[in-house]
Amino acid sequence: MRRGIGEGHAAQRADKSDLGKEQPRTAPAERLGEQRDRQPVDKRRTDAYGGSVANRSRLVLEIIEGVRRAAPGMHISMKMNCTDFMPKGQRPQQALEFALMAEQAGLDSIEVSGNGTSVAGIRAGVNEGYFRRFAEALAEETALPVILVGGWRSLEAMQAILDETEIGFLSMARPLVREPDLPARWLAGDTRPAECVSCNMCYQTPGHGCVFRMRERL
Ligand SMILES: Cc1cc2nc3c(=O)[nH]c(=O)nc-3n(C[C@H](O)[C@H](O)[C@H](O)COP(=O)(O)O)c2cc1C
Ligand code: SF4
Repeated sequence: MRRGIGEGHAAQRADKSDLGKEQPRTAPAERLGEQRDRQPVDKRRTDAYGGSVANRSRLVLEIIEGVRRAAPGMHISMKMNCTDFMPKGQRPQQALEFALMAEQAGLDSIEVSGNGTSVAGIRAGVNEGYFRRFAEALAEETALPVILVGGWRSLEAMQAILDETEIGFLSMARPLVREPDLPARWLAGDTRPAECVSCNMCYQTPGHGCVFRMRERL
C-alpha cells in the first residue's frame, strides 16, 4: 500500500531524528480515518480492505508492520476509537478485536479515544475519564501499555484509575491548552483540579488557543 510505504519512510526519518515515536491516528475524519476503511458504516468495499473487521483493519496493520520493518527500534503507538458513537459505527467489541490484531502486528502502546473525543461539560470528580470502561476491558486483554485520554481534570480521579485498573498511562489535551504548566503546578503541591471548563471554544480560535488565556492576556 502506498500509504504504508509513506509511513515507513516517515518512520525511518523520525527514527534518525530525536523524535523516536510514531502514532498512527485511526479515528474517522482524520488521517487514516479519512479513508474510512475501518468504519462499518462504509463497509461497502468488497476487496481485501472492506467488510470484516480483519479486512477493515488491514490498512492500519500493514502500516504498523511497514513502520516496524523500516524502523525496528521505534516505539509505535496508536490512538484509536473505542466506539464511533454513530449508527452502524464501530462497536467496542470490534474495536477490541482490532486492538488485539494491532498488538500482533507489532504495536508498542495504544491510546484509547473515541469519535467526538472532546466531550463538553466535564467536571472534576463527577464525569472524568469517559472512555474508561473500554480502556479497562482492553487493559485486561492486552499486554500492551494502555493510555487513556478524555476528560481527566483532577489528580484524585487520575490516581484512582491508575491504582485500581490495569490502565498504565493517562493523557490530557484541553487542560494543557488552558494551563500548559498544569503538571508543574501539581508537582509543586497545588493540586486543585484543572481550570479547563471543557467549553471547546479552543476549536474555534486561531491556533487552537484557549479563550480564557487569550482574555487574560488582554
Ligand atoms: C483544539 C483541539 C484539537 C484537537 N486535535 C486533535 C487531533 O488533531 N487529533 C486527535 O486525535 N485528537 C485531537 N484532539 C482531541 C484530544 O487529543 C483529546 O483526545 C480530547 O480533547 C479529549 O481529551 P481532553 O479531555 O484531555 O481534552 C483535539 C482537541 C482539541 C481541544
Ligand atoms: S477554550 Fe480553554 S477552557 Fe474551553 S475547552 Fe478549550 S482549553 Fe478548556
